[in-house]
Amino acid sequence: MRLDRFIENTLSYSAQTVRHLFAERKIFLNGIAVDKGRHQISAFCRVEVEGNSLQARTPAYLMMNKPKGCVSATSDIKNMTALDLIDLPNKNDLHLAGRLDFNSTGLLLLTNDGTWSRKITQPQQKTPKTYWVETLDEITAEYASKFSAGMYFRFENLTTLPAELKILSTNTAEITIYEGRYHQIKRMFGFFQNEVIALHRLSMGKIELDPNLLAGEYRNLTEVEISSV
Ligand code: URA
Repeated sequence: MRLDRFIENTLSYSAQTVRHLFAERKIFLNGIAVDKGRHQISAFCRVEVEGNSLQARTPAYLMMNKPKGCVSATSDIKNMTALDLIDLPNKNDLHLAGRLDFNSTGLLLLTNDGTWSRKITQPQQKTPKTYWVETLDEITAEYASKFSAGMYFRFENLTTLPAELKILSTNTAEITIYEGRYHQIKRMFGFFQNEVIALHRLSMGKIELDPNLLAGEYRNLTEVEISSV
């Protein structure tokens, strides 16, 4: 949005009043006095008019190590949510960039920047997501070829993108998928009637879960992590 329109709308000032304020150098954009209204502003630009702040939302980007038994949501009438675990004044501005099932654990991203979260979650980006998985029964080499060929999901009438499987032990593996269908990994193992008993997300794109975070803990993303998206 243009800066002058934003000020007119927010303060219900006429275009002429706002032009005068510009001329009098009473409008500051990100701390700098500006004399023209045609600057484009985003939700994160700092705007001050005659000493009053109209908008000072600072972007926030967090990673959490989601615990078991917690809903990937910002509110829920019954269960604890990821947001309940956060103790920050601006927490109600946050939303989730991707979800995990109730009993899945690991990397969960939260932000107040919708442009950023769309980039990491939109299907066209094919962001790789890597999980550690433990199953009830043995994982055999046959799984890897089936997963890499793509699997047909009747409900959505689609074939999953090729996924990579690295078998770690009889019942554990690392799996990388490039989309996020409903219960995707459980359904992929379900094809072999093999139940997933633990699922832990290790990474999304270049962002890896910080090994220092205990279940339920969170931290700010670094500049490098933010700009990797
Ligand atoms: N696939 C699943 O089945 N569950 C998750 O939480 C994430 C991916």
